[in-house]
Amino acid sequence: MAGPATVYSAEELGMLGDYFETRGAEAVLAWALERFHPRFALSSSFGAEDVAVIDMLWRLEPKARVVTLDTLRLPKATYEVIERVQDKYGIQVEVFRPEPGAVAEMVSQRGLNLMYESIENRKLCCHIRKVEPLERALLGLDAWGTGLRRDQATTRTEVKKIEPDAARPAKIKVNPIADWTSGQVWDYIRKNQVPYNALHDKGYPSIGCDPCTRAIKLGEDPRAGRWWWELDPTQKECGLHVAEPAPSLAP
Ligand code: ADX
Ligand code: SF4
Repeated sequence: MAGPATVYSAEELGMLGDYFETRGAEAVLAWALERFHPRFALSSSFGAEDVAVIDMLWRLEPKARVVTLDTLRLPKATYEVIERVQDKYGIQVEVFRPEPGAVAEMVSQRGLNLMYESIENRKLCCHIRKVEPLERALLGLDAWGTGLRRDQATTRTEVKKIEPDAARPAKIKVNPIADWTSGQVWDYIRKNQVPYNALHDKGYPSIGCDPCTRAIKLGEDPRAGRWWWELDPTQKECGLHVAEPAPSLAP
């Protein structure tokens, strides 16, 4: 178990990122656990990447922490896989939900399905339902893990396995499978019989909230089903992984 928070300079984090670039995902997670547990948690959406990382993490430390952001608009299959993972690994996922008052105000001013009307509305909804709960989940943590992969999106090509959190300077971000392909994720899931979201077998390679995720067609980009009505790939982020000003409900 780690002692008091270890503070790294940007330069030291750069060196750690370089060192771990050629090391495997388990080595990255072992480092994070050794340095930070229990002030380290994986942030899991319970997509394929994240269940693979949960399995790895659990093998290293059965008490490793997993947090999730329940936007209250997740697909039924996501709630189901959370249960299956908890049962298989004997873990209690820490669930963070949006502030009820903020959701009520947003819905009363802009409607339940505001996200389809403009990118500003969509980012506001993502902020209230995901980003603000993540800020609460990260309180008390020194470092957090993700299932980000570089080849998922044009916005993710520079992700390092260990890096400063650009949006939250006091936190360290750990992305153990940054250099994995989707094929490697699925090989890991099959080899280790990891429970996964049933929507993956129905044409959903990437899964977010129910109103904002659809199945993709053959040949489409794997993230084409996320916010499918938005056409600019540089905007297809919910805000968890980008440093940008918080959207506001004020007109
Ligand atoms: S998103 O920004 O487009 O929604 P994506 O679904 O690719 O992100 O997930 C990327 C990483 O963000 C996940 O591996 C996970 O670490 C984190 N993440 C995304 N959604 C959630 C969620 N609902 N709860 C916890 N972590 C999440
Ligand atoms: Fe809202 Fe859609 Fe973002 Fe979920 S993905 S928080 S429903 S805009």
